[in-house]
Amino acid sequence: METINAQTTTNTERKKRVFSAIKPTGNPTLGNYIGAMKYWGGMSDEYDCLFAVADLHAITVAIEPKELRENSKRLFALLIALGVDPQKNILFMQSHVPAHAELCWLLNNYTMFGEASRMTQFKDKSRKAPDNVNVGLFDYPVLMAADILLYQTDIVPVGEDQLQHVELCRTIAARFNNRYSPTFAMPEGKVPKFGARVHSLSDPTAKMGKSEGSGDGTVFILDKPEDIMRKFKRAVTDSDSKVKAASDKPGITNLLTIYASLDDCTIEEAEKEFENSDYANFKRRVGEAAVETLRPIREKYEALRKDEGELMRLMQSGAEAASRIAKRTLDKVYKKIGFVRV
Ligand code: TYM
Repeated sequence: METINAQTTTNTERKKRVFSAIKPTGNPTLGNYIGAMKYWGGMSDEYDCLFAVADLHAITVAIEPKELRENSKRLFALLIALGVDPQKNILFMQSHVPAHAELCWLLNNYTMFGEASRMTQFKDKSRKAPDNVNVGLFDYPVLMAADILLYQTDIVPVGEDQLQHVELCRTIAARFNNRYSPTFAMPEGKVPKFGARVHSLSDPTAKMGKSEGSGDGTVFILDKPEDIMRKFKRAVTDSDSKVKAASDKPGITNLLTIYASLDDCTIEEAEKEFENSDYANFKRRVGEAAVETLRPIREKYEALRKDEGELMRLMQSGAEAASRIAKRTLDKVYKKIGFVRV
C-alpha cells in the first residue's frame, strides 16, 4: 500500500488530495460518524489524505480550557480508532500548524463582509448564543478555507451542513487565483450518498448535533451499548406503522437512513428488510446495528487512550508532515501578494 508522498506538488503527478476536519466541541456523534468520519479511514488507498482536529475553530463558542484539552485528545484518538491510520494519512491538530492562522489572516482580505454574513451557520450560532457573537465566529469559514487551501486540496468530504462553507472557500480561491495567478487548487465538497444530514432521534426535524445537550436525541460514538439502545428505543416515530421513508415521516426516514448507512445497504433494501416489522422491533434492530458498529471503535479508542505519550508523538509527527506541505503554499501566497521575503 502506498503511503502519502508529501513531497509532490502538482495535481498531475500525485494522487488527488483529500482534506477534512472536525471540531473538538462536545462529544462526537453518530451524525459526525455517518455524515463524515466513517469514510475517512478508507480513503487513503485512493487519495492522499490529511485530516485535522480543528481546535482553533472550537474556541468560536465558549469552551472551558479543560474541556478543550480533553475533547482534542479524545477526538485525535477517536480518529485513529475509526481507521485513520497515522502511517497512511497525515493526522494532526490544526493549532500545531501555525500556517492555518496565518493564511486565514491573509484570506480575510479576499473575503467580502457580505459573503461571510450570508453563512447560515453563523446566523444560527449567533441566534443560539446572542451574548457571544464574536469576530472569530464570523471568521470561522475563512479559517476553514485556509485549512482546505493550504494543502492544494481536491476533495473535501463533509456532511451537508458544511457545503456552504466549502462553496465560500471556492469563491475565495477563485478570487485569489484571478487577482494574482493560479495558486490554489479548486476544492470540491463531497457529501455521502445518504446520511449527509442525520437528524436528532427526539426531534427528527433538527440536526443531530454534538453540543445539543445531553438529551436522548443524540447518540455519541463513545456511548455505552445500553445508552445507545435506550436512545433508539425512545426514538420518535411517525403516526402510521409502516417502515417506509417519506417526506411526511421524518422519524422513520431518519432511522432508515441510519440503518442503511450502518448496514451498507440502500434505503429500499432496508425498507424491504423491515416491511413486516413493527416500529419497536425496527428501532431495536437499528440500535443493535449502531451498538455493533461502534463497539470495536470504542474498544480501540480506550486502548489508545492508555498511552498518552504515543498520542503526543503521533500529534507531533502529523504536525511536522502537514507543516511541510502548508509552508510551500503559504510561501507562495506571501510572495504573490508582494510581501518581502528573506
Ligand atoms: P463539525 O465538527 O461540526 O462536524 C464534523 C463533520 O461531521 C459532519 N456532521 C454531520 N453529518 C451528518 N449529519 C449530522 N447530523 C452531522 N453533524 C456533523 C459535518 O458536516 C462535518 O463534515 N467546520 C467543520 C470542521 C472543519 C472543516 C475544515 C471541515 C474545520 N475546517 C475544513 C472540512 C474542511 C465543522 O465544524 O465540522
